[in-house]
Amino acid sequence: MGRMTVMGRPREEAVAIIGGTGVYQAERLENAATEQVRTEYGVVELTVGRWKGHTVYFLPRHGRGHSIPPHRINYRANLAALAEQGVTQILATSAVGSLRSDWPAGRLVVLDQFIDFTSRREATFYDGEDDRVVHTDMTNPYCPRLREVILKTAADLGLDITESGCYVCTDGPRFETAAEVRAFGRLGGDVVGMTGVPEVILARELGLCYAAVALVTNLGAGLSTTPLAHDEVSRQMQENADRLQSLLWESVARLPLVRPSSCCQQRGA
Ligand code: HPA
Repeated sequence: MGRMTVMGRPREEAVAIIGGTGVYQAERLENAATEQVRTEYGVVELTVGRWKGHTVYFLPRHGRGHSIPPHRINYRANLAALAEQGVTQILATSAVGSLRSDWPAGRLVVLDQFIDFTSRREATFYDGEDDRVVHTDMTNPYCPRLREVILKTAADLGLDITESGCYVCTDGPRFETAAEVRAFGRLGGDVVGMTGVPEVILARELGLCYAAVALVTNLGAGLSTTPLAHDEVSRQMQENADRLQSLLWESVARLPLVRPSSCCQQRGA
């Protein structure tokens, strides 16, 4: 996918916020408007506006009324649409279950690794169609620079945040069994969710900077005595929405208008 240009000049860079469960509004966006972006993978509706000198695109991953389940999200269209609009830096949020009893609901985590347990998703832009086989480095999937910005912002806002965590992604939409939660924890996972992959992979393939903040909404299956329910996930998200929104928007305010040329731009080879 080529870099878009306007009248021969590189298009202005933009930032995106991808909102997970409970993050359906772009609260601080000024002069907000809605755009339909056509990509080769499908049409995506984006909200665009301005915030602190940035052009910011907002994309609620599950749709505005949480109508798209995790396994039906068109991840490739979403990432392609953002890239086509000139987005180079993405901050995402995820509601997650905790795989550790010492990480209770309400904990914020800046992800640094993932383990992929999905199996039924379109997870690459490189399908071999143009006779190219591409393997993308995934050693550090989340942009270290964006992660630092989020951590520094959290410190300045006085927010408690965990500076790293490994995200296990399942296909869903069901929750896990107690045995899966035990197994994922033993494998090195800290939290579990259903949407972080392949989003982060596709961002890496496009050479975009991408970081994700996870909010623990519940202890994983079997770690708590109550059965898991989406209502509880939503309730926890609502309770923590102000903290999460402040962290996101204040982080965006601190991002450079043009990202450093060395950052995350290397694509697969
Ligand atoms: N499992 C998977 N996804 C989730 C959970 C969970 O326990 N909580 C919020 N998203």
